[in-house]
Amino acid sequence: MRVLLLGGTVDARQLADAFTAAGFEVVESVAGRTRQARGGAASRVGGFGGVDGLARYLRAARVTAVVDATHPFAAQITSNAAEACALTGIPLLRFNRPGWRTHPDASRWIWVADHGQAAVAAARMGGRVLLTVGRQSLLAYRELTDVVARVAEWQGDPVPAGWHVIESRGPFTLAGELDLLRRAQVAVLVSKNSGGAPTSAKLDAARELGLPVIMVDRPPTPDGVGEVSSTADAVAWLVDQH
Ligand SMILES: NC(=O)c1ccc[n+]([C@@H]2O[C@H](COP(=O)([O-])OP(=O)(O)OC[C@H]3O[C@@H](n4cnc5c(N)ncnc54)[C@H](OP(=O)(O)O)[C@@H]3O)[C@@H](O)[C@H]2O)c1
Repeated sequence: MRVLLLGGTVDARQLADAFTAAGFEVVESVAGRTRQARGGAASRVGGFGGVDGLARYLRAARVTAVVDATHPFAAQITSNAAEACALTGIPLLRFNRPGWRTHPDASRWIWVADHGQAAVAAARMGGRVLLTVGRQSLLAYRELTDVVARVAEWQGDPVPAGWHVIESRGPFTLAGELDLLRRAQVAVLVSKNSGGAPTSAKLDAARELGLPVIMVDRPPTPDGVGEVSSTADAVAWLVDQH
């Protein structure tokens, strides 16, 4: 009953506690790219070495089930987990927190499939853009010149001339987001469909100020992989596998 929990998210921390309480042995794994990930309670830090490395690890560590609770946009590890579990025959579940498709304003936003499309849409609109898309995606927006980029942890990566970077980690409040959008004179907000309450205040603030929102949709869950969005459903799935 050894569960590999692919983490790096607040969701994974909550799942780890719930799985342990339900009697499972949990190995929580993080990529270790940020200070927060390195300092957490995870029991394994760093990559596995692609699909083959992960498959080798699953066999050697006698893992009986894998729960992928990585960030909704961590597409590479999610794809690797699907392939490695298919290779080894180990059951896999994708935990994805509810997204913002059901947000009351979702029909007013401009939905795009990836960051490239978001950059094109933002360029067309003109005016100052607030990017809240994560540090690793900023390069896709390099043609934009009037940008404020907010990231949870800045690691010194170069940005185009004229960009202003704000380092700030949620949770964010409506008052704080209104203040930022007004002070920075933002004309367009770009967001990923990450979901979750701690970072959703920006969407309410954008509505209050009548600002357009460009929303990058999530990469799809790999074919054949079951998906849940609640801790209770994830525990029930694990119990079913053992
Ligand atoms: N993408 C985001 O917006 C975002 C936001 C918040 C937190 N995070 C967290 O930060 C981590 C990295 O995100 P990413 O978007 O760079 O991932 P990614 O592109 O999907 O994965 C890149 C590589 O990082 C390693 N990796 C990723 N997650 C891992 C985990 N939980 N345990 C061990 N190795 C892992 C794997 O290396 P190997 O191929 O060597 O195994 C993977 O191939 C993820 O764990 C994710 O949950 C991501």
